Amino acid sequence: MSKDAFIVLGGGGHARVVIHCLQALGYRVSGYTAPRDLGVQRGIPYLGDDRGLRRGVEVTNISMALGIGKVTIQSPRLHLMDTLRAEGFHFPPIVSARAVVHDDVVLGAGSVVFDGAVVVTGTRMGLACIVNTSATVDHDCELGDDVHVAPGATLSGGVRVGKRSLIGTGARIIQGVSIACDCLVAAGATVVRDLDRPGTYMGTPARRVA
Ligand SMILES: CC(C)(COP(=O)(O)OP(=O)(O)OC[C@H]1O[C@@H](n2cnc3c(N)ncnc32)[C@H](O)[C@@H]1OP(=O)(O)O)[C@@H](O)C(=O)NCCC(=O)NCCS
Repeated sequence: MSKDAFIVLGGGGHARVVIHCLQALGYRVSGYTAPRDLGVQRGIPYLGDDRGLRRGVEVTNISMALGIGKVTIQSPRLHLMDTLRAEGFHFPPIVSARAVVHDDVVLGAGSVVFDGAVVVTGTRMGLACIVNTSATVDHDCELGDDVHVAPGATLSGGVRVGKRSLIGTGARIIQGVSIACDCLVAAGATVVRDLDRPGTYMGTPARRVA
């Protein structure tokens, strides 16, 4: 990752965490974009919405970071990233200086690993994934695009998570389980067998509730 400046897409709480990660890594953050001005965030100014961004920015001198969080299955983050990548913008993966990520882990464009998270050998993750604060992703896991492993959640070894799924805060997934695309695993749930259908799964052991 070059030490070029970043622009962060989004100005809420998730964006502030991304900005903090970048600042701690020594990157300059030129500004953030959002549908409306949320004021200066961690010393970073508002640049307008992303339409203004496309008119005003030289794509080769700037890196982009997704600062849009994900608390539901549907979210605009992957579509926005795809659109901007097609226009030439690049989204390097970002790993907090306080995370542990083994050297053979593969991170897709736009993916982030936050403070205290641990991602270990053999794991591969797609585009725009979030491994949030103090989450752990053990060996040989596979995460599809736009998967969010929320704070404190634990994926044991060899877990597969389909695109857009959200593993809620503090959820635990035992080894070798496959989770379909578009699943929401509730906060605190324990997944002990494959989740074959999209839906919301809750409890210990996790059962489909919607
Ligand atoms: C599972 C979840 C999607 C349910 O949300 P919801 O549909 O809005 O449900 P409600 O809050 O209306 O709660 C419905 C019932 O489920 C219970 N419930 C909600 N979340 C629960 C959970 N995680 N585990 C167990 N029970 C839960 C509620 O207490 C309520 O029970 P009641 O009817 O007996 O009062 C949500 O609570 C959740 O866990 N989301 C994940 C959040 C997360 O991890 N975000 C990460 C942010 S970084």
